[in-house]
Amino acid sequence: MISPLFDITDRVVLVTGATGALAGSAADYLVAQGARVVYIGRTQDKLDVALARCRRRTPSARCLGVVADVLDRAALERARDTVLEKWGRIDALLNGAGGNMPGATIPPGKNFEDLDFAAFRQVVDLNLHGTVLPSLVFVPALVAGGRGSIVNFSSVSAPQAVTRVVGYSAAKSAVENFTRWLSLDLARRTEGRVRVNAILPGFFIGEQNRRLLTNEDGSLTERGQLVVRNTPFGRFGEADELHGALHYLLADASKFVTGTILAVDGGFTAFSGV
Ligand SMILES: NC(=O)c1ccc[n+]([C@@H]2O[C@H](COP(=O)([O-])OP(=O)(O)OC[C@H]3O[C@@H](n4cnc5c(N)ncnc54)[C@H](O)[C@@H]3O)[C@@H](O)[C@H]2O)c1
Repeated sequence: MISPLFDITDRVVLVTGATGALAGSAADYLVAQGARVVYIGRTQDKLDVALARCRRRTPSARCLGVVADVLDRAALERARDTVLEKWGRIDALLNGAGGNMPGATIPPGKNFEDLDFAAFRQVVDLNLHGTVLPSLVFVPALVAGGRGSIVNFSSVSAPQAVTRVVGYSAAKSAVENFTRWLSLDLARRTEGRVRVNAILPGFFIGEQNRRLLTNEDGSLTERGQLVVRNTPFGRFGEADELHGALHYLLADASKFVTGTILAVDGGFTAFSGV
């Protein structure tokens, strides 16, 4: 029997970035745990693929697909209204949309001064504002429901400097600060019933970083090798290795936990590199 501490049956969980690798895998997992999951994605065709996958894995799945760009307030408000109309409440928000953009990365042989500032702005927009805006739109429903959990996505580049990814690092640092800020605000206003935390994934191969970490033939680039050397587990993470941490942060098991950043990184952030 499942412990009540980890029972998330019927919880209405909104997942942004649900057509992506990490948040998509998390959304499928939460559905399998009995949650009602709203897959938020930018395009209907990608959502259709994600929902078909979810229903194939969990025939009794209760999942809903809603198209919304995380930077489009009106679309997020429509998504909120659709969910409230269908399921009557919102219990949790997983802010999974985000990621690096090649233009905001300093290429080899270039310096900070060569940074494309427009691309820097874009990556901050997606990762920071794309976390703040959905929170702004969905928090009132969490507060009204009397309980809730928000989980944001940080990165190893937030607490430490990671070469090249200057825009992404700045954005994720701000996401961590925002996580703490909102956790405090909601803790006071809801007497701890609405919590805000973040997970900090280490290196997981996805579409965004594949070109940085692996060569065409699948072998590791120099940077990929450096990452593996600096990860005490000696490998990249697998998407399903985030499930346990996310489940914990969404469930009552973490009832007294807010404002934390939970690293799931094979030891990367604990390691000095020496
Ligand atoms: N992959 C890693 O190693 C890693 C490490 C640390 C943190 N993260 C973070 O985890 C999260 C998920 O990353 P991933 O690797 O699964 O990436 P991914 O590219 O597979 O997924 C990101 C999703 O966000 C969506 N998205 C992008 N812009 C959007 C917008 N404006 N509105 C709505 N959706 C939008 C994309 O369509 C995609 O489905 C991101 O926040 C990323 O920064 C990833």
